[in-house]
Amino acid sequence: MSKTVKDYIRTIVDFPHEGILFRDVTTLFADPRGFRMAIDQLLHPYAGTRIDKVVGLEARGFILGGAVAHQLTTGFVPIRKKGKLPGQTIAQAYSLEYGEAVVEVHDDAIQPGEKVLLVDDLLATGGTAEAGIKLVERLGGVIVGCAFVVDLPDLGGRRKLETMGMEVHALCAFEGL
Ligand code: PRP
Ligand code: MG
Repeated sequence: MSKTVKDYIRTIVDFPHEGILFRDVTTLFADPRGFRMAIDQLLHPYAGTRIDKVVGLEARGFILGGAVAHQLTTGFVPIRKKGKLPGQTIAQAYSLEYGEAVVEVHDDAIQPGEKVLLVDDLLATGGTAEAGIKLVERLGGVIVGCAFVVDLPDLGGRRKLETMGMEVHALCAFEGL
């Protein structure tokens, strides 16, 4: 049997805390077949769909989003953690396990009405993606899809995004926490 995207993802036990199974996509990114397969599969549902910008979420979403944008011949827009972008930005807070974090986007990076594909490596609680979606929508962008390599369905992110009306596309899922 040939390998699937999921087969290239390594699981690290007890990282970053005891009891956590960390789904490590660096082994997928490092493999030439695995990486190409992941990019091709991320794009697949959007063949024939108009996409003006790919938005990637820092940090691992940059690696995937850049390759996806190149393949689609669209621009790439980074959503970064607070304080990293040099121009005028808008900010969005979101919840973490402990406390809050803030992400930002340049306020001129997306024009009203532009069709946007949001890309990240992994969907867990959906807090990061939700913050990204809100930033895009505050600039007037229209999200045509949210694409992830990994979904952790037990953490509820897919449900959260679908409740917001988003179309969620994930290449594989890991059940359990
Ligand atoms: C991880 C992952 C997603 C996010 C998913 O990123 O890469 O971006 O968490 O979690 P959520 O659905 O519960 O929001 P992390 O914040 O660890 O940062 P990094 O990508 O910069 O390593
Ligand atoms: Mg991340």
